[in-house]
Order: sequence, then C-alpha cells, then structure tokens
Amino acid sequence: MTVPTAFDLLRDSSPVVSVGILTADLLSLGSELALLERSGVKVVHVDVMDGCFCPMMTVGPPFIKALKTPLLHDVHLMIDEPLNKVADYVAAGADIITIHPEACSHAHRALQQMRAMKNVNHPERGLVRGVGLNPGTALEALEPLLDELELILILAVNPGWGGQKFIASTRGRVEKAKRMIAGSGRELLLGVDGGITRDNIAEVAALGVDLIVTGSAVFDGKTAEANAKFMLEAVKGKAVGSRQTGSL
Ligand code: DX5
Ligand code: ZN
Repeated sequence: MTVPTAFDLLRDSSPVVSVGILTADLLSLGSELALLERSGVKVVHVDVMDGCFCPMMTVGPPFIKALKTPLLHDVHLMIDEPLNKVADYVAAGADIITIHPEACSHAHRALQQMRAMKNVNHPERGLVRGVGLNPGTALEALEPLLDELELILILAVNPGWGGQKFIASTRGRVEKAKRMIAGSGRELLLGVDGGITRDNIAEVAALGVDLIVTGSAVFDGKTAEANAKFMLEAVKGKAVGSRQTGSL
C-alpha cells in the first residue's frame, strides 16, 4: 500500500489545525495527546525555544521522542544555528520541521540537509521542511529558499510565549506570501502561527492558509477538548481552492 507523504496529507486536508502543546499539562502528556486525538486533531505543534533566539527555554529532542501518538509531529525550532541540530529532531520523530532564517547563518544548507533525511515515523512519509518568519522579517528573505522548502510559516506574534495578541499586519503578509508562492511555480504550504483563538480562527482560515497553529486557546486549563473541537469546526469548508478532500 502506498503511504501518503506528510506533505500530501496536509495539502489534501487543508486547512489543518496544528495544536501547540506547551500550555498543556505536560506531566500528563499521554492523556493530553489522547484528548487531541479524541477531538479529531491530526497535528501536534511543539515550540522548541532555546533561551537564546527566544527568551524562553522549552523542550528538546527527548520530548519529541516522548510524543507517543499517531498525530503528525510539527516541530517549530526557534533556536540559534539549527544547522547541526536538526538531525536530532528528525531522529526524535519530526514530520514537519520548521527553522528560522533569522537564527541561521546557513538556512539554505540546513534545508538541503533536511532534504536528505528520513522520516523515522514512516520512511515513506517524508519530511515537510518549513521556514518560519518573524513579524519583523521581510518576506523577501524567503525568495532564495523557495526551492528548498515545502512550508512557509508566518508568525503572527514575536516568538517567545503563548497567549500573545495576533499582529494585524499578518493578514497582508499572508496575502504577499500567497503571491510569492503562486509566482514560484511550486506547490507550497502556507501556515500561520501565534495569537489564534476562538475569535479569529475562522477569519485566519478564510485567508486561504493550509496550516493554522493554535496553542493556549486550546490548552487553556479549562475546556481543552471543547476548544479543540471548536477550532476544527471553525476551519471547515475554508479550503484553498479545491484542495480539501479530508484525508488526514
Ligand atoms: C510563538 C510560538 C507559537 C505560540 C502559539 O513563539 O511559535 O506557536 O506559542 O501559542 P498561542 O496560540 O498561544 O499564540
Ligand atoms: Zn510555534
């Protein structure tokens, strides 16, 4: 049986909700993941912060490895100089792995390295290579990288914490990124990360993005399962063109 690639799974289920786990109860990781699975979520987002590129420190490869779940592992590396660190995250089970050019002297080389890496969850699933952009970084930084990535992740907050407010200029940046993708002649995924809540998720989905990351608005310490279900329901029917076939 042919195994769909992670890229195909995301594209065919666009828009996909990727739930950030850092405000979950990490001492009950298994049941928090089970809650996401039960809700119908298909992708879990892990924010890796190193205390250098980001003021906060969060988790590393052992945490990724501890995610015992069929959910796709969406690993967002907000760390300095990821070039020689990416392999550890891929070995720990990343399906989607996003780096930041602002943190990387050799972003192109890191992406090239990732192209040669195998998905350890399923060798045929492949990796989705993402490039994340901070709100203050010009989108032109993506241009030299467009041949070596599958996902553009527009940050709608400055990296550092969950629970920040969605920066309004993100809408224009998403439109510009869509034009860049159209002009690239490549089929690429577009995502938005940060500040996405019950109040704005439908609006963000309507921008025509493929991946929507939401963290603290799901794991709010109160009604996580209801929140996750709400987010999934809110993005339904907001597919980019005719993409949505619902294969995740
Ligand atoms: C920002 C991170 C985001 C963020 C998501 O540094 O990349 O993933 O924590 O959390 P919320 O949804 O709370 O903004
Ligand atoms: Zn993130």
